[in-house]
Amino acid sequence: MNLDPGMTRERLETGCWPDGAAYVDGRYVPISDARISVLDFGFTRSDACYDVVHVHDGAFFRLDDHLRRFRASLEGVRMSIRHDDDALTAILAECVRLSGHRDSYVAMVCTRGVPPARVRGAISGISNTFIAYALPWIDVLSAEIQRRGAHVMIASTPRIPSESVDPTIKNYNRGDMVRAMFEAEDAGADTAILLDLAGHVTEGPGFNVFAVSGSSVRTPASGSLEGVTRLAALELCVELGLDAATADLTPEDLHDADEVFLTSTAGGIIAVTRIDNRILSNDSPGPVTRRVTDLYWKWHRDGRHATPVAY
Ligand SMILES: Cc1ncc(COP(=O)(O)O)c(C=O)c1O
Repeated sequence: MNLDPGMTRERLETGCWPDGAAYVDGRYVPISDARISVLDFGFTRSDACYDVVHVHDGAFFRLDDHLRRFRASLEGVRMSIRHDDDALTAILAECVRLSGHRDSYVAMVCTRGVPPARVRGAISGISNTFIAYALPWIDVLSAEIQRRGAHVMIASTPRIPSESVDPTIKNYNRGDMVRAMFEAEDAGADTAILLDLAGHVTEGPGFNVFAVSGSSVRTPASGSLEGVTRLAALELCVELGLDAATADLTPEDLHDADEVFLTSTAGGIIAVTRIDNRILSNDSPGPVTRRVTDLYWKWHRDGRHATPVAY
């Protein structure tokens, strides 16, 4: 079952693991058999970085951007993997092929690794753990919520300060997000948006945030992951002739916006129809959000930024 790219391959059947396929320790396995040590600092310290790219209709979308961001995250947390971009692409594609799905959630993860026995103080020199996996498509918010528009609350839990954990490194330090999600659940909202300590809008669990006022479209300039879908949305807005840019946003900017939408690899462009006690765009996805969403999926149909998977 050793299918490391470049090695002699016993070719497993396409779609043999429909629940998901993983690459761990240089081997491809069904997702249910994918394991790392409970002593790995990725588990005991959330000391990990990762990236997620989606496959739509048999092709990766903006794979280059995800690989570039993953490399930057690795560098930011001083981790390394032995695979170059071609090898990494081959591993991700093989996971997708083995899962067989034409619409897939594909993760690449690096954890600090297992520390040496009897020593806990040092983090340099630990051999990092690399894992990749492909799952059937995942949405950050359900298809039903996406159809009606998300109901969002602005959480009182602030985002972990960027000075402590750099949000541009895709990481597993999610304690603030988990608290905010419980706040949202208690308030009957679908999800939450977090502010930084200065009161500016940052992001939410799994998505970036955009505010639309007339033809002006703004997303936070700092304090959030530089989402690949955020980048796509900025480009989509330009193609639609909108004035798209980054800026500091306050909760009032969201409350007073004509429309608010979220962006995520896991779902694309998602309308927000309620925010705190405000109803936006007559409680249904607004016209700008719909245009951006339509063009986002048209880019997929047109093969823009596509890297096909060989099934
Ligand atoms: C905290 C956070 N912000 C933003 C995003 C959106 O980024 P992308 O569009 O690259 O999926 C994610 C995606 O998982 C995320 O976890």
